[in-house]
Amino acid sequence: MNIKLIEKAEKSHNLNKEELISILKDSSIDKILFEAANRVREKYMGDEVHLRGIIEFSNICKRDCLYCGLRKSNDNIKRYRLMPDEIIDLAKKAVGYGYKSIVLQSGEDSYYTVDMLKYIISSIKKLYIAVTLSLGEKSLEEYKAYKESGADRYLLRIETTNKKLYEDLDPGMIHDNRKRCLRDLKYLGYEVGTGNLVGLPNQTIESIADDILFFKEIDADMIGLGPFIPNEDTPLRDFKADNFTMSLKVMALVRLLLPDSNVPATTAMESLNRNGRIIALSSGANVVMPNITEGEYRKLYAIYPGKICINDTPNQCWNCINGKIASIGRTVSKELGSRKKAI
Ligand code: SAM
Ligand code: SF4
Ligand code: FES
Repeated sequence: MNIKLIEKAEKSHNLNKEELISILKDSSIDKILFEAANRVREKYMGDEVHLRGIIEFSNICKRDCLYCGLRKSNDNIKRYRLMPDEIIDLAKKAVGYGYKSIVLQSGEDSYYTVDMLKYIISSIKKLYIAVTLSLGEKSLEEYKAYKESGADRYLLRIETTNKKLYEDLDPGMIHDNRKRCLRDLKYLGYEVGTGNLVGLPNQTIESIADDILFFKEIDADMIGLGPFIPNEDTPLRDFKADNFTMSLKVMALVRLLLPDSNVPATTAMESLNRNGRIIALSSGANVVMPNITEGEYRKLYAIYPGKICINDTPNQCWNCINGKIASIGRTVSKELGSRKKAI
């Protein structure tokens, strides 16, 4: 029965909640699911892989998400923040390697004023590349100011659509505000990326199905999801589980339901499986986000343990990922990689 559902999704790009749950619970059809997602990726997105270089410019955060190593209550982490001109320099180097798109990501760090961010964004936009921001929850006015400075995209994972679970895991944060942020970003004309964490404590398959339907409902332009990886320095340190295959299944279902959205093979997937990004690229993904932060900052952006590339340089990552993509017969795109709506 689930094979028939996968065939239906491949053609119609629709599944209801019960159908999603049925596929998520059935481990006997994983290979068929991954192959179907790969075919849909090929049909709608082609063989090009978009590289987005990620600059992790501050690990200082005012929030206290229970799962994250950057949470403010974690005293076992050396904090850093890069100055605006250092961030701009990293972006210039990325362009030198060949990146057409960069992502600026940080903890929720109030040090960076709207004027500072406007300066950073507008300076990087002079390099004719696409800029994605991933800075957490802000006001409509702030998002508007960044957009007017040239930001193209914004990445804000809903993390989970289960309000209670979200508010339990993110003390002080309000689920409705996260949704408000995503609405504001759409309204302002950003390409909107969201996603979830797969394998959170007390998360159910039913709630993961809701997450997938939420991405479809808001017609997300990018869906970056990944396995929850417990961090020793957080209250969730004991929730050990291997969430790799379930993340891959969620990602494949996302590709079936949102055939023309950008879907990254995430760093967290490769951190759990040394071939994780290639497996993801062969199961529906069409984007990779290599780290272009330099030096010891790579180690210090310690969201979860086992993060890949912490001892490598941006140049090594560029060569490594280009080699991996070529090894599966795919090519690195020379375009900015905006979503092209097909349906
Ligand atoms: N502060 C911004 C935010 O929360 O949207 C951006 C930075 S935050 C470190 C980026 C993402 O890291 C979050 O959206 C979350 O899904 C992910 N993350 C945090 N802790 C994680 C963990 N233990 N395992 C896997 N991913 C994690
Ligand atoms: Fe801060 Fe983002 Fe980590 Fe939450 S997930 S603690 S907002 S960096
Ligand atoms: Fe960083 Fe492979 S992408 S070393």
